[in-house]
Amino acid sequence: MLSQKKIIEDGDRVVIYAGKDKMQVVTIDAKSGEYCSKFGNYKHKNLIGKEIGTKIQSDNNNGFVHVLSLTSELWSIALDHRTQILFNLDISTIIFNLELKNGSKVVESGTGSGSLSSSIARTIAPNGHLYTFEFHEERAEAARKDFRDNRIDKHITVTHRDACKQGFRLDHIEGMVGSIDAVFLDLPSPWEAIDHAIAVMHEGAMLCSFSPCIEQVQNTCLKLAASQFQEITTIEVLIRTFDTRLQEFEELNLSNPYTSTTTTTPPTTETNTTTSTSEPKAKKKWNQNKRETFEIGGIQGLKKDSLLSKPISEARGHTGYLTFARWVPEN
Ligand SMILES: C[S@@+](CC[C@H](N)C(=O)[O-])C[C@H]1O[C@@H](n2cnc3c(N)ncnc32)[C@H](O)[C@@H]1O
Repeated sequence: MLSQKKIIEDGDRVVIYAGKDKMQVVTIDAKSGEYCSKFGNYKHKNLIGKEIGTKIQSDNNNGFVHVLSLTSELWSIALDHRTQILFNLDISTIIFNLELKNGSKVVESGTGSGSLSSSIARTIAPNGHLYTFEFHEERAEAARKDFRDNRIDKHITVTHRDACKQGFRLDHIEGMVGSIDAVFLDLPSPWEAIDHAIAVMHEGAMLCSFSPCIEQVQNTCLKLAASQFQEITTIEVLIRTFDTRLQEFEELNLSNPYTSTTTTTPPTTETNTTTSTSEPKAKKKWNQNKRETFEIGGIQGLKKDSLLSKPISEARGHTGYLTFARWVPEN
């Protein structure tokens, strides 16, 4: 996940990309690995030596895929959901507002499916460290395995523990207590973990809590205010994705019949078109030069192709509220 390789090698962890919603994470296995799908069959040994990102024809010549490097962004899309996970929009907001960078020391709970953990690890590597706490034993073990497979395990310590009861102190790790730059909480009762967070943070460190419900946010804010946190801010990050596509429009000539003598002349001014006297441009996929006329009730109009941008109606809505605060105790 941290590698910057250009050429596929045996043992690499890559994403086989057959489309936006058709990605699979695989480890290249020259001996027996094979990827088979409706996009064709690919023996891993035939992928070795190919350039990352290029189009690769299937062995049986009935399709193609692209092979991409595994990034934390693609991992958040392709991973196995063992829990609800954080997605890239919330993740980027968290990483920026927690002021994370190479060298940061971070505490997180719960680990869940490791979606956020992977992005944190990528941001703080190679000199930082993530201490992540998960009270569900199998989830903690599955996360450890994913981090090992994705080769980010040396930047992450997974601890199986109830963070609200046992806190975040790892006394066997020298210098951990009092050195944490940022704490991230994705817990049902985050306010129960705030005293434990303070026990490992240094002064001026940041905390972020993610909660789906506003009542959780209210309790968390009250606890933060009572615990000498400053800059307490809650935000909700909503995405509004736009779809841009070719659309045919019908434009009627609705000029006022009482003031005009040319009531039946179709409109002639069009953006994005060449004038009739100029050389026709090379044909595009869509017909920007279309000039078909039509008539409704004696009024003439012009059909034309145009680009339309509109928000996608099924865009993802509320995920949760992010509450940020800085610990600046006065005494
Ligand atoms: C929604 S998931 C976290 C998802 C994670 N942020 C991600 O992006 O993949 C919440 C996790 O917190 C764990 N959890 C809940 N209460 C906990 C506690 N008191 N201590 C540690 N982990 C806890 C749950 O087992 C669950 O795996």
